[in-house]
Amino acid sequence: MAPGLIERYRDRLPFGPGDPVVSLNEGSTPLVPAPRLSERVGAEVLLKIEGANPTGSFKDRGMTCAVSDAVRNGAEAVLCASTGNTAASLAAYAARAGLRGAVIVPEGKIATGKLAQALMHGARVIALQGNFDVALRLVRELCAKQPIALVNSVNPFRIEGQKTAAFEVLDELGPTHPLDALCIPVGNAGNITAYWKGFQEMGAAPRMFGFQAAGAAPLVHGAPVEDPETVASAIRIGNPARWEEAMAAMTGSRGGVNAVTDEQILDAYRFLAAEEGVFCEPAIAASVAGLLAHGAAGARRIVCVLTGHGLKDPQTALVQAGSVVPCEPTLDAVERAVLG
Ligand code: F0G
Repeated sequence: MAPGLIERYRDRLPFGPGDPVVSLNEGSTPLVPAPRLSERVGAEVLLKIEGANPTGSFKDRGMTCAVSDAVRNGAEAVLCASTGNTAASLAAYAARAGLRGAVIVPEGKIATGKLAQALMHGARVIALQGNFDVALRLVRELCAKQPIALVNSVNPFRIEGQKTAAFEVLDELGPTHPLDALCIPVGNAGNITAYWKGFQEMGAAPRMFGFQAAGAAPLVHGAPVEDPETVASAIRIGNPARWEEAMAAMTGSRGGVNAVTDEQILDAYRFLAAEEGVFCEPAIAASVAGLLAHGAAGARRIVCVLTGHGLKDPQTALVQAGSVVPCEPTLDAVERAVLG
């Protein structure tokens, strides 16, 4: 059994030996070669499968640290604004810790699986008549007023936890297989900030390529987007909190930021599922769509971060996938149905 990441990386995280640890044994996610994608790109591409975390997204890395710190500080409640995955993760770790959890999500705009998770774990789910950016502004204001711990990625412990994904990638590749580039979807820009911090702490400097959905691409435009719109609901964000850090990561590593259309995202989403056997969230396919559309400046070894599991959003999958084959309960009919 692999221990959770605070235990695994305690020497590189802000936790002492006696500190409380709230963990679901997150991290240690697979780094999987992608032969078909590698062929299309003309480079070695590996997929970091963050959907293999306990609640199905990379958020668990940050949440184990943010919730452990909240417990250390004697907090009784934790709060976040979310496009869904942070909400699901907060709810699970709050349940684990015996804390009250509340999440504010844009009404009707989060994927079904994420909503089911947050509710099942017993968080108070607040459906805001406003988008993520408004929700984040309001939770920041509320947490300044009330003794509630804010666990969005503006919380430095989230970044600390999420940087461990970079450690894992480097550990797994080893010193003889340097990483040239990382491709990653960007929403609130915490995760790209965290990877870059992790790489830098280990003396590595792969080119960081961030990808945003065309309808929610403030970093590409260089200005906030008032009404972000994209099929990629997880990254439907118009004014990222970690804007400067993300830009510093991309320029400092000689990478860049680019936009991909919903059509490119959905193509990559279907390609990964059908050709690589990897089912990720639609939003997340932005990293692969971006690599296919924009390349990675001639990098030879590339990691694409697949931040969340496809089961989070069954509705988009069913719209994008083929239909079922109806069948009468006879051998003849089944034979015809199976052989097509
Ligand atoms: N991938 C997934 C699956 C996400 O849920 C998010 C963000 C991102 C990528 C982007 O990461 O924000 O650090 O740049 N989800 C947040 C949420 C905003 O509330 O779950 P980022």
